[in-house]
Amino acid sequence: MSFPELRMRRLRQSPEMREIFAETRLHPSMFVKPLFVVPGSGVRREIPSLPGQFHLSPDEAAREAASLRGKGVLSVLLFGLPEAKDAEGTSALDPEGPVPMAVRAIREASPGTVVMTDVCLCEYTDHGHCGILRGDEVANDVTLEALSAMALVHAEAGAQVIAPSDMMDGRIGAVRHALDGADFSDRLVMAYAAKHASVFYGPFREAAGSAPAFGDRRTYQMPPGNAREAMREVRLDIEEGADAVMVKPAMPYLDIVRRVREMTDLSVAAYQVSGEYVMIEAAAAAGALSREGAILESLTAIRRAGADIIITYYADVAADLIG
Ligand code: PBG
Repeated sequence: MSFPELRMRRLRQSPEMREIFAETRLHPSMFVKPLFVVPGSGVRREIPSLPGQFHLSPDEAAREAASLRGKGVLSVLLFGLPEAKDAEGTSALDPEGPVPMAVRAIREASPGTVVMTDVCLCEYTDHGHCGILRGDEVANDVTLEALSAMALVHAEAGAQVIAPSDMMDGRIGAVRHALDGADFSDRLVMAYAAKHASVFYGPFREAAGSAPAFGDRRTYQMPPGNAREAMREVRLDIEEGADAVMVKPAMPYLDIVRRVREMTDLSVAAYQVSGEYVMIEAAAAAGALSREGAILESLTAIRRAGADIIITYYADVAADLIG
């Protein structure tokens, strides 16, 4: 059948008809909101590189998580800005550090929130790399021990999902093994599996104070042009015991989201990163496009590509828009 018998516009003639024939829907429960936790109490400071996002002390992070829960956003992903940094990132293991404190505060104030924590050393090392150095090289295997210890500190505090983002080899297996060995076999591991070395992390690194002091992250994060290598990374993380796999960034990598979706039956997460957020904010502030439209269209596209879980700074705003 073709025109004039076939008329595609029949499907689009009213809002109701469009809704009935919608292929992709968004729901607040698929959003995860990243939160940046700082020491102290009563702190809620706007982040200069991420306008509209805040540095929060643990008590404020708990308030934020409860408010998100009220909007139907079930999960937060925590990043920490420690008091002190050193070469080995030892403050990442402090049970009184901002992240473990926020985990406890959130679990208490908002028991219905699932707390995810980012496990990586870059916010805790004075050189800003994601692992421990030997000379100028990031040493893989010693870093695994530090990451495993960090995961245990988060689990001990009550984190239900551990999300290693460092891109060391073998980290998912190491973290899974450490968790199981310490009686945390009920905790999930969400692997930042296909994490590319992206300029779109720029605003985050300012927000987290985690820009590398020398060099870049290209010896551990993936080349933006490699999709088959991304599949290998994802397959490995699944073999090592990941409960969910992530693709990052999201919008410039939708082909990879789709390929991972087709390759595995695990849940696929996509991270709409800081640079993606800032691009939309800046374009909207310049009057170049509709902010609400860009937020919903970008999230819909990420969902359409195959993401089950979307980590996005717009989690609260999007929940309000679709609610
Ligand atoms: C830590 C980490 C980064 C992001 C998430 N975890 C920064 C990086 O790898 O440099 C980026 C998130 C964002 O840009 O929103 N390794």
